[in-house]
Amino acid sequence: MPLHVLVLGGTTEARRTAESLVAAGGFRVTSSLAGRVARPKLPPGEVRVGGFGGAEGMAGWLRAHHVDAVIDATHPFAGTISFNAASAAAAVHVPLLALRRPGWVPVEGDRWHLTDSLDGAAELLPGLGSRVFLTTGRMGLAAFAALDALWFLMRSVDAPEAPHPARMEVLLDRGPFSLEGERELIRIHRIDVLVTKDSGGDATAPKLTAAREAGIPVVVVGRPPVPPGVPVAGTPQEALALLRNLTSA
Ligand SMILES: NC(=O)c1ccc[n+]([C@@H]2O[C@H](COP(=O)([O-])OP(=O)(O)OC[C@H]3O[C@@H](n4cnc5c(N)ncnc54)[C@H](OP(=O)(O)O)[C@@H]3O)[C@@H](O)[C@H]2O)c1
Repeated sequence: MPLHVLVLGGTTEARRTAESLVAAGGFRVTSSLAGRVARPKLPPGEVRVGGFGGAEGMAGWLRAHHVDAVIDATHPFAGTISFNAASAAAAVHVPLLALRRPGWVPVEGDRWHLTDSLDGAAELLPGLGSRVFLTTGRMGLAAFAALDALWFLMRSVDAPEAPHPARMEVLLDRGPFSLEGERELIRIHRIDVLVTKDSGGDATAPKLTAAREAGIPVVVVGRPPVPPGVPVAGTPQEALALLRNLTSA
């Protein structure tokens, strides 16, 4: 019987993990997507879309679908689903591992201001600039809604909903982004401060280089913690090796 692995997805790494598992053979792979993105790139294997109904709902799903192991390959900032996965996997006694791409590290010339929330970022902004390149995604824009004196270039995959800053231009785009393109955006829009989550990875890192070159400050929102006790892999390959360890597959 192939081992049934549930990959909690919504990231490039999750898709790569599903590809690796399918290519390796011996696994039945189901990827789970939250359903936030209108036209997601689908991984190989089976795909289910939509919430489980909290930790209990996920535990029920794991039981009903005879899942043998769970890989939480969700975005580093998707904190709720990771804690739900930890509770559900513990309740059903299936092994769980997390896949988290490494966070970004500042280099010489970077002017980073670290904070742990979007609210924290909003507090810092008025002291740092007035034309903001906001790349934290379309969720949580309410944190910036009261900053009437600032202008925002907000980039996201899908259009944001209110509440959001009054003075805001929306740029709908999906990474990877080039260094040349990021330089152009900063120049054309006269950006003087960048806001980003510490998402890590190469696809969206060029904005950090462009900000460094332009000498502008960057507000970096730090990651929520991985649930305690959950082993963490940094790449899809490491996740596959860890999965084999945990399941003896
Ligand atoms: N947060 C980000 O910055 C970000 C960036 C890029 C991609 N994503 C992806 O977008 C998805 C949603 O992110 P979020 O920040 O809203 O997550 P979240 O706050 O951790 O999750 C909120 C709820 O959405 C549902 N959910 C989340 N991920 C799911 C998945 N992979 N499969 C099924 N249900 C899921 C769960 O609903 P139930 O309680 O009903 O199960 C969860 O309780 C994640 O899968 C994540 O990988 C997030």
